[in-house]
Amino acid sequence: MPGSGGRATAGPQGPRELHDSDFVVVANRLPTDIEVLPDGTTAYKRSPGGLVTALEPLLRKRRGAWVGWPGSPDGPAEPIDIEDLRLHPVALSATDIADYYEGFSNATLWPLYHDVIVKPIYHRQWWERYVDVNRRFAEATSEAAGPGATVWVQDYQLQLVPKMLRSLRPDLTIGFFLHIPFPPVELFMQLPWRREIVDGLLGADLVGFHLPGGAQNFLFLSRNLTGAATSRGAVGVRGRFGEVSLADRTVRVGAFPISIDSGDLDHKARERGIRRRAKEIRAELGHPRKILLGVDRLDYTKGIDVRLKAFNELLAEGRAKRDDTVLVQLATPSRERVESYQILREDIERQVGHINGEYSEVGHPVVHYLHRPVPRDELIAFFAASDVMLVTPLRDGMNLVAKEYVACRSDLGGALVLSEFTGAAAELKQAYLVNPHDLEGVKDAIEAAINQTSEEGRRRMRALRRQVLTHDVDRWARSFLDSLAETAE
Ligand code: ADP
Ligand code: G6P
Repeated sequence: MPGSGGRATAGPQGPRELHDSDFVVVANRLPTDIEVLPDGTTAYKRSPGGLVTALEPLLRKRRGAWVGWPGSPDGPAEPIDIEDLRLHPVALSATDIADYYEGFSNATLWPLYHDVIVKPIYHRQWWERYVDVNRRFAEATSEAAGPGATVWVQDYQLQLVPKMLRSLRPDLTIGFFLHIPFPPVELFMQLPWRREIVDGLLGADLVGFHLPGGAQNFLFLSRNLTGAATSRGAVGVRGRFGEVSLADRTVRVGAFPISIDSGDLDHKARERGIRRRAKEIRAELGHPRKILLGVDRLDYTKGIDVRLKAFNELLAEGRAKRDDTVLVQLATPSRERVESYQILREDIERQVGHINGEYSEVGHPVVHYLHRPVPRDELIAFFAASDVMLVTPLRDGMNLVAKEYVACRSDLGGALVLSEFTGAAAELKQAYLVNPHDLEGVKDAIEAAINQTSEEGRRRMRALRRQVLTHDVDRWARSFLDSLAETAE
């Protein structure tokens, strides 16, 4: 992929027929934001979020096709090849973006699926646009997929695509994976279109969630909303699956915790250039004794306010020292036209201003806050440079940042403070686990992480690394796709 802000580099691969892809990923966003500039040239930028981080390297290896939105209203209309990937853009109009993406996806489903941290908004007009855009994604996929192809539909924006695609192309094998939490039954039942969503997902041969709890919620809802028989399923070669028995076929349901390309990150973090940059970062921050780090999209699910509150109180109580501790918060702008995100940004920036006003000296802020995406190598250097990684979401399907931090610490340095309300907490048990609603608990954990002995830190990090390095994104994809292939057999 061309780097952030890079220019067009036409793909070197040989010509392919338009409809020849036997492996197709469908996601709301293409892995690169593509914009056609007024001078006719094309600008590329890495798309935000964990979905792209996980899937992009994997799809490239498989030389697959990716159907998705180019991220701006002025994207290309025709398929383009970039390196080993064929991208099929689905154009969205300004109204599509307002009603399907900002509206139903990110002001209805996102808060509903994240424990209603903010109140979901139910608008019939948004729903109608969601149905319409899902249909266009299904049609575009139907055109991109070769005969008998495997199609892997991603995430909450496209939950109707499996059913729509199956009716267009019964020859396809269809998998669906949800990258965010699947909510408790009581919350899901709020949704006026709950039956349609469950029916949409049941169009897939295999429906995957991060955690067994999500799979169980979905099985329960399938039974109760559609009347289908469900079972815990047989113990297959790849573990236990649930099953939903429909009139003409069976849908498998399972848990597949996603991961990262940990080997690649481990390798990059050891490079001399990255290590040098990590040292420079410490120097630029004024050689503090301890660097605390947060890395997130600017999203209300991430608990950025929680860690700022905790840090503020630790400074006030003298449990963190203003002259030798700094907090760096890297925040990628996200969904900036959605009101709850605008309110969040104001709140975070007010908190940062308050803490710096109270505790900073001229030229030495205690909180360094960047509201922009950071290039990948720079991010790895930040991971390598920092002593305590703060991952404090109120709810998160997985949280790849936690795993990235661990993968970058071959020196066994650093400490991870991790919310229990992330999918990652189920695997990263040796982190300093916290309940983000319990501020005193968060403060205690941050203080313990700041003051841990190096033996304690090494013991924890060694165990965390064992988990992250052996459970990488390839293993995740293989486990999902092998299970999907079994359903086709
Ligand atoms: P989400 O998918 O909700 O954004 P994840 O933690 O699963 O959360 O994935 C976020 C991805 O985006 C990670 O790969 C992370 O490295 C990247 N990322 C997050 N914030 C930044 C930032 N400020 N600059 C660059 N990359 C970022
Ligand atoms: C999360 C979601 C993805 C989404 C990403 C970035 O990872 O699971 O589906 O792409 O956030 O959000 P955005 O709205 O910018 O695509």
